[in-house]
Amino acid sequence: MATSTATAPGKAILFGEHAVVYGRAAIAVPVAKVKATAAVTDAPPGSGCTIAAPDIGARVHLSTQQEDPLALAVRLAIEEVGIEEEPDWQIKVRSDIPIAGGMGSGAAVSAALVKAVFSHCKLPAHGPPEDATVNRIVYAVERLHHATPSGIDNTVVVYRQPVRFVRGQPPQRFDIARPFLLIIADTGIASSTAAVVSDVRRAWEQDTKRYEAIFDDIGEIAETARRAIESGNVDALGPLMQENHRLLCKLDVSSGELDRLIAIAEEAGAAGAKLSGAGRGGNLIAVAASKSVETVREALLAGGAAGIVVTQIGA
Ligand code: MEV
Repeated sequence: MATSTATAPGKAILFGEHAVVYGRAAIAVPVAKVKATAAVTDAPPGSGCTIAAPDIGARVHLSTQQEDPLALAVRLAIEEVGIEEEPDWQIKVRSDIPIAGGMGSGAAVSAALVKAVFSHCKLPAHGPPEDATVNRIVYAVERLHHATPSGIDNTVVVYRQPVRFVRGQPPQRFDIARPFLLIIADTGIASSTAAVVSDVRRAWEQDTKRYEAIFDDIGEIAETARRAIESGNVDALGPLMQENHRLLCKLDVSSGELDRLIAIAEEAGAAGAKLSGAGRGGNLIAVAASKSVETVREALLAGGAAGIVVTQIGA
C-alpha cells in the first residue's frame, strides 16, 4: 500500500522569546539533528483515518477527536486539498524532539503531518502547496496549544531556515557569515508554553511599563545578535546570550534548574548561555568555541542535563 512520508526539524530560538509575542524581533534556527516524521498509508476501505503517535502514547481517530492537535492538523490539511469525506488512512507520527522542551516539537509534528497529507494527495497541476500554506495551517494548530503564539515556532520548522521574525510581518531569512557551534541541553523538566506565556501576560497587564521596557531591551539584543551573525562576529554571541538570559530572569521565566545548568555551562568554558523557548524548564542553549564544546557537554551531563544536542549553525 502506498505510503507518503514527510519530516520537519526541531528549532531553537537564539534570542528574543517572549518579547516576540509583544511585537519585538526574535531570531531562531532549525535544528535538523532532531525531527518529527509523519507517514500516511492507505488503509482498507471503510476503516477511516487513525493517527498513532507511539512516542507520546497517543492514538486518535479523525472523526471523533475535535480538540486534538494531531487530528486538527490532518483535518485542516485535507480541507485545504478539497477532500470532503474522511479518508481511509493510517497515519504514524514519530519524533525525537523532546516534548514540552522548547524545541518546537508540537509545531514540527504538525508540519510533518500536513506535508505528508499533501504529499499523499499528490496534488496535481499546480504542484504541492507552498510553505506559506503549510505554515498557515500549523499556526492554526499552534493556537490550540496556547492562545497567543507569535508564530515563530511554526515559521522556523516549516521554512527550515534561520529566520528573523516579527509578529505580523513576513519572516526574513538571515545569513550566517561564520558557522558557530550551539549546545542545546534539556533540563528534563517539561514546561507548558501556554502556562508560561499566560503568566507573562498577567504580569505585563499589572506592570505594563516595566515589561514593555524589558521587551524593548530583548528586541534590541535580538537585532544586535542578528547583525553579529550576519557579519561573522560570533564572539559577540556569548555576552548577548548572558544579557538576554538576565532579562528573561526579570520576566520570571527562568528556573533554579535552568540557572544552575547555565552556570555550569559557563564555568566549563561556554562563551554564554540562556534559556531557549518558553522557559521554566525545557532547554537551554550555549555557544562555545570548538575546543571547549566537549568539556561543556560533559559538564552539563555530569550536572544532570537529561539530553544534549550539539549542532553547527550555518553550513
Ligand atoms: C515559545 O517557543 C516561544 C515564546 O516566545 C512563545 C511564542 O513566541 O509564541 C515563549
